[in-house]
Amino acid sequence: MMSQTQTTRSTTMTWVEESRRALQRLSPAILALGLHLPLWAVILAICLRLGNVCNLGPGTLAWMEGLTAWAVTRWLGLPRWWQPINLLFFPLLGLALESAIAPTWALAAFLALVLTSLGSLHTRVPLFLSSHQAIQALARCIPGQPGLRFIDLGCGLGGPLAGLARLRPDLVLHGVEAAPLNWLVSRLRLDGRARIRLGSLWDEDLSRFDIVYAYLSPAPMPRLWEKACREMRPGSLLISNSFGIPGVVPEREIALDDLSGSSLLLWRIP
Ligand SMILES: C[S@@+](CC[C@H](N)C(=O)[O-])C[C@H]1O[C@@H](n2cnc3c(N)ncnc32)[C@H](O)[C@@H]1O
Repeated sequence: MMSQTQTTRSTTMTWVEESRRALQRLSPAILALGLHLPLWAVILAICLRLGNVCNLGPGTLAWMEGLTAWAVTRWLGLPRWWQPINLLFFPLLGLALESAIAPTWALAAFLALVLTSLGSLHTRVPLFLSSHQAIQALARCIPGQPGLRFIDLGCGLGGPLAGLARLRPDLVLHGVEAAPLNWLVSRLRLDGRARIRLGSLWDEDLSRFDIVYAYLSPAPMPRLWEKACREMRPGSLLISNSFGIPGVVPEREIALDDLSGSSLLLWRIP
C-alpha cells in the first residue's frame, strides 16, 4: 500500500511530466521566452532595487539569462540546434547594441529577412538549410539510373542542388522557390547546372519528375502527399528531410548524424 506522501509525490511527478510534454508541443521560441523571461523580469527588478548591493553588469546578466534559456531548452528536450540560439540570443543582442553598428546595417538585415522569409508567415515554411550529411545521403539514396529528373521543392539557397550537381552529374536538376532573394542566390549559384523557377511549389507539375525532394515543415506535408499521389508516376520517389506525413509510413528512413539529428524519409508512389 502506498503512503499518502508517496501518492502525493507520484501525482506531482506525473503532473510535472505531463506539463513537460504539453510544453514540448508549443513553439520553442514561445517556450524560451514564455518560460524564463518572466523569471528574468523578477531577477532584474530585484537587481535594480538592490542597486550597488547586487553589482552585476548587463553583460553578466545577459549571459546568465542565456544559461537559464539553455537549461530550459535542454530540460524540455527541444531539438539540439535551439540550444545555441537560446544561449546566445541576449548576449549577442547586447553586443550588437554596444558596438554601435550603423542603422543602415540593421535596415539591410531586415530587408534580407523580408526577401528571404516574409512568405513563411503565409506558407509556414521558414528558411533553413539541408545539412552536408543530408545532401550526401540524398546523393547516395537516389537510384543510379542516368537521366533521372529531380526537383527540390522550395530549393532555398540551392545547397542540395549544388551538392547533387557535383556528386550526381547524371541527374537532371530542377528547383522551385517562392522567396525572391533565395531564388536569385540559387540561380547565381547553380548557373546552367539546374533549372530554377521563381514561384510556388503548388503550381509545379510533379508528373515530370522521378524524384521529388522537400525540406519544408510539418504544416504542408498532408497537402504535399495528396499532390504527390495525384501527380507523381507510380514507382517515383518522394523524399522528405525530417518531416513525416501523418498516417503514412515511409518505405525507408535514413538517420542523419547532423546537428538537428534529423533523417531522410522515402516514400515510393504506389
Ligand atoms: C526549409 S527551406 C529548405 C531549403 C532547401 N531545400 C534546402 O534543403 O536547403 C524551405 C524553402 O522553401 C521555400 N518555400 C516555402 N513554401 C514554398 C512554396 N509554397 N513554394 C515555393 N517555395 C516555398 C522557402 O522560401 C524556403 O526557402
